[in-house]
Amino acid sequence: MDRSEVIQYLINKKKYKRYLEIGVFNGEVFFKTKAHYKYAVDPAFRFVRETKYKMMLKNSSNINAKYYTKTSDDFFRDNAPSLFLKSKIDICFIDGMHEFDYVKNDVINSLQYLDKDGVIILHDCNPLTAEAEVSYKAWEERGLTGEWNGDVWKVIVYLRSVYKDINVFTLDTDQGLGIITRGTPEALLDFTEEQIRQFTFKDIDANRNEWLNLKRESYLLNYFG
Ligand SMILES: C[S@@+](CC[C@H](N)C(=O)[O-])C[C@H]1O[C@@H](n2cnc3c(N)ncnc32)[C@H](O)[C@@H]1O
Repeated sequence: MDRSEVIQYLINKKKYKRYLEIGVFNGEVFFKTKAHYKYAVDPAFRFVRETKYKMMLKNSSNINAKYYTKTSDDFFRDNAPSLFLKSKIDICFIDGMHEFDYVKNDVINSLQYLDKDGVIILHDCNPLTAEAEVSYKAWEERGLTGEWNGDVWKVIVYLRSVYKDINVFTLDTDQGLGIITRGTPEALLDFTEEQIRQFTFKDIDANRNEWLNLKRESYLLNYFG
């Protein structure tokens, strides 16, 4: 299963209504997703207005979709409080800036507006090469190409070390899909935020199974089944 399939599986299975995507790019996932209410957040969408109309014809749930051309921090400050005052977010896909502080903020902010039975999905949690794990600055300066995961993985380690009331695992598919739900953690890690910030690719490479709580796809079906 790729990220799109996992998102749609959860929407269908849990009868989720409200879908929020942070970091949308060309809408590859967003336009395909079928949900009653859809919210797209990106400071630089990579599609033109005509694409939105085309996508309404392809998938009628795009008719009511709302677009916020801004960073996720601005969205959570300016829009989320009123948007999600009465009805919370059911499913949030976080795929914006792939650096620890940004992703950590996105998760903390999303948790604030997440329904008690909701789910957060983090993309890019399982970097397989040192190149894919570099900072955005290094990625740009070195002219690297291909999939950039950044250090999203540190957020998984952080959540599993700090939060006692959420369960976190990572599906071993599509660059690593972090799955976050409320509930008792399966097992905790014991790192401080300072330690996590100091970790490098070598550390995650040596410990990815344990630190990411890596699971096969079949685990997802049982977990939500
Ligand atoms: C990897 S792309 C998203 C891909 C898309 N979710 C998909 O699955 O096809 C990352 C996107 O995050 C956006 N982005 C960068 N910084 C952001 C921020 N602070 N808040 C929200 N989105 C951000 C970029 O403009 C870019 O379009």
